[in-house]
Amino acid sequence: MTDPIAAAAQANLKRIRTRHFQNAKENGIKITGLTSYDQLTASIFDAAGVDFLLVGDSAGNNVLGYDTTLPVSVDDLIPLARAVAGAVSRAFVVADMPFGSYETGPDEALHTAFRFMKETNAHAVKLEGGVRSAEQIRRIVSAGIPVMAHIGFTPQSEHGLGGHMIQGRGSGAEQLLADAHAVEDAGAFAVVLEMVPSLIAGRVTEELRIPTIGVGAGPHVDGQLLVWTDWAGLTTGRIPTFVKRYANLSGVLTDAAKAYIEDVTTERYPAPEHEYKD
Ligand code: KIV
Repeated sequence: MTDPIAAAAQANLKRIRTRHFQNAKENGIKITGLTSYDQLTASIFDAAGVDFLLVGDSAGNNVLGYDTTLPVSVDDLIPLARAVAGAVSRAFVVADMPFGSYETGPDEALHTAFRFMKETNAHAVKLEGGVRSAEQIRRIVSAGIPVMAHIGFTPQSEHGLGGHMIQGRGSGAEQLLADAHAVEDAGAFAVVLEMVPSLIAGRVTEELRIPTIGVGAGPHVDGQLLVWTDWAGLTTGRIPTFVKRYANLSGVLTDAAKAYIEDVTTERYPAPEHEYKD
């Protein structure tokens, strides 16, 4: 079976478009996504072939030093999204709409989406919420801006949800399905399912025409997304059960910092090859 995303890249297609997400679902090809908040990681992930990069409001925890995503503002994310969008040649870049930038209604949501599209060159926006955000999604999509929806555990509502809780269990399954159908009907091109049991994620994936992207939603989804700092082992402390660590960057950087301190304090650095000659 041909991978339509890889085939598109080989055919010198400049970048992934929303139709490639749809093609991938229809052909049973898994979609890959990582978060990125800066130019260097964006260009590395793009060159490696990651299909989409999310400039997530998880930048609040991973870049800006906040405990949650709630304080993150549009002005915080715009320079990060611009750096990521400017660094890619193939990957599809999605800018996250932060808490407080779309909830009051479709007008506010469209205003925020316009800012991201005009000021960053991102290719789509993402916002949290199913039924409750459907009108916002509809308005943004009607202006020609692709929307990635986000349901299940939605970190911007962590206090309302009672903490980092798995969603869609028991009677929550009906709500998850209602949310999934609401965002599809509103015109979202894909939907993120965060922290939901595999079985219900599989049911949502079967019922929807648009692709599902899992973050802690098991294998029965159309694609996977991880926060890059968790995925690369840069995050220290507790990481969610669903994360697979693909590297140990915190260990690599700690060893490098210790070696540097040792070299400087023992005057092994700078060595003659690091000096400018007269
Ligand atoms: O901000 C983010 O990184 C996210 C993903 C976890 C889905 O919204």
